[in-house]
Amino acid sequence: MKVIGSKPQSLHAVAVFPGSFDPVTVGHIDLIQRSAMVFDEVVVAVACNQEKTPLFSVSERIAMISNIFTDNNRVKVETFDGLLIDYLVNRGAKVIIRGLRAVSDFEYEFQMALMNRKLAPGIETFFMTSSALYTYVSSRIVKELASLGGDVSDLVHPLVEKEIKIKYSKYARN
Ligand code: PNS
Repeated sequence: MKVIGSKPQSLHAVAVFPGSFDPVTVGHIDLIQRSAMVFDEVVVAVACNQEKTPLFSVSERIAMISNIFTDNNRVKVETFDGLLIDYLVNRGAKVIIRGLRAVSDFEYEFQMALMNRKLAPGIETFFMTSSALYTYVSSRIVKELASLGGDVSDLVHPLVEKEIKIKYSKYARN
């Protein structure tokens, strides 16, 4: 196997953390924070048009994530449409970060990583394991719980909890 040369000193490591983030959860926040300890810049890329009926619009999702990370200048929040790898190529980024919570995530993530590498061989997917505390947390679970009047304060940032309460106020129990 041919060994390729070492990393040039000037390389600015930009990692893209893509997702639907409808809404961003404590699990996402943990992964974004930890990624920002490793990469120079982490771009949280909110996907457009993933779900036909999202709870939050793309601009609402961007605003929530931006507010949460307002003090972390390594974290940027953007949106993208179409193929993820086209967005990375246009942005000059070479790294995709995805979180793995459990074995059940693996098959889909593996398939997506291989497809993205086939489409753009220079782009690598880095997987991060979620913290044990957050393995059960997902945006879908948050929405289901909140829609039925359940407490989601442990699952999302207080800013997000406030926005969820506004969305689901018609279901509130008190
Ligand atoms: O938070 P999610 O819903 O698991 O994020 C999935 C996402 C948005 C990262 C993925 O669906 C995606 O990259 N969509 C853009 C279209 C694309 O490039 N698909 C992969 C090629 S097979």
